[in-house]
Amino acid sequence: NWNMENFIADQVELVRRQVGNRKVLLALSGGVDSSVVAALLLKAIGSQLTCVHVNHGLLRKGEPEQVVQVFQDELKANLVYVDAADRFLDKLAGVADPEKKRKIIGAEFIRVFEEEARKLEGIDFLAQGTIYPDIVESGTKTAKMVKSHHNVGGLPEDLKFELVEPLKMLFKDEVRACGLALGLPDSMVYRQPFPGPGLGVRCLGAITRDRLEAVRESDAILRDEFARAGLQGKVWQYFTIIPDFKSVGVRDNARCFDWPVIIRAVNTVDAMRATVEQLEWPLLLKITDRILREVPHVNRVCYDLSPKPTATIEWE
Ligand code: XMP
Repeated sequence: NWNMENFIADQVELVRRQVGNRKVLLALSGGVDSSVVAALLLKAIGSQLTCVHVNHGLLRKGEPEQVVQVFQDELKANLVYVDAADRFLDKLAGVADPEKKRKIIGAEFIRVFEEEARKLEGIDFLAQGTIYPDIVESGTKTAKMVKSHHNVGGLPEDLKFELVEPLKMLFKDEVRACGLALGLPDSMVYRQPFPGPGLGVRCLGAITRDRLEAVRESDAILRDEFARAGLQGKVWQYFTIIPDFKSVGVRDNARCFDWPVIIRAVNTVDAMRATVEQLEWPLLLKITDRILREVPHVNRVCYDLSPKPTATIEWE
């Protein structure tokens, strides 16, 4: 008789048996999987768990704050919050090639996490938010990308821990149900997929701080308006992109040379093919108006109508 309450009770028991009175480390990104693992382990072993949240400066507006609020303030977890934004942005300065950007972000993530792991004494286990689609050969890029970025298999030999992976038999919808049963907020459990390199691949070409802030602000406006329109959890993935070129515009009777913002909103089953959400004009116009009024250095908003294929979901 399988239900979520039994699953949680069983996993709590199994984790306690596996871990005993030893210590567990978790890289808590704030994504669905790592958040649910954190909540489950807190229930099972409480203060024997230490969570490390690396803020690489490429997260969405409000995300690091929510991780601290939910896990440290409310659930009383041992949370190490690392503000590594400057480190990542320094390493990324001037790098325009998308795959190089991804490699730098992935490698730097492991380096920061490794440094934190070495500071902590007596850790025996590494917890991971591995879920069933990650271990079966699904062949989708999403699973592979997420695996390659988030799994910390890149840690050096002397830092190889035994793994704790309580969600590895669950599908995504079961992971969400588990998170809800453990009391995590809807906004965390129903979060849309977000790439490991984060806003870094939505600030096209070489990342600059002004465009990164403009991507973050415009993304926050887009998510806010989608939530107000009841589209949260209904559209698979939606976000904004800022290219690395400017266009001419006019503001206060003078020519202004500023950045364009591109809106992307797509639906998909497996991320291999995607269709564009047919957003209502009034919503698009409202979002456009807010972005143009509220986000500095932006003078133009475009809506990407391209399906995948021929376009991909992300722009780089
Ligand atoms: P594309 O752009 O290939 O994206 O159509 C398909 C899905 O994969 C996500 N994506 C990534 N996820 N690291 C990730 O963890 C990455 O480097 C990466 N690139 C794309 C994208 O957001 C979409 O959901």
